[in-house]
Amino acid sequence: MKIYKIICFAAIMFLISLIMLSKSSRASDDCALILTTKCNLCHNLGRICRKLGKKSKSRWRSAINRMVEHGAALSDTQKIELTICLYEQSDNVKAACK
Ligand code: HEC
Repeated sequence: MKIYKIICFAAIMFLISLIMLSKSSRASDDCALILTTKCNLCHNLGRICRKLGKKSKSRWRSAINRMVEHGAALSDTQKIELTICLYEQSDNVKAACK
């Protein structure tokens, strides 16, 4: 009985970590995609990459909202995702900026 519980616990932890892993990498995949398909239409990515680490979260949020006013086509979810990725400088954002 005891070993059964341990196996169950391990399996659940494994599943939880899988879910968390796939969620976080999917979000930053989306960010790289947003950057390379929607954010380089009017200016190059350099304009964005130069600002990594220099804006607070709310400054990124308002910059992205301003881009949407300029004409960038982002859904509400994409706006939130991108704000987080840019503020946290996710790996894929850094890769897109290389
Ligand atoms: C429809 C055209 C357009 C698109 C699409 C666009 N931008 Fe811009 N962007 C501009 C213009 C115009 C400026 C300069 C004026 C300004 O800052 O509002 C600018 C400037 C910037 C700047 C420098 C100013 C600052 O606030 O630091 C950043 C960063 C930026 N854009 C990020 C983005 C991001 C992220 C995206 C993708 C969501 C994006 N842009 C998509 C037009 C666009």
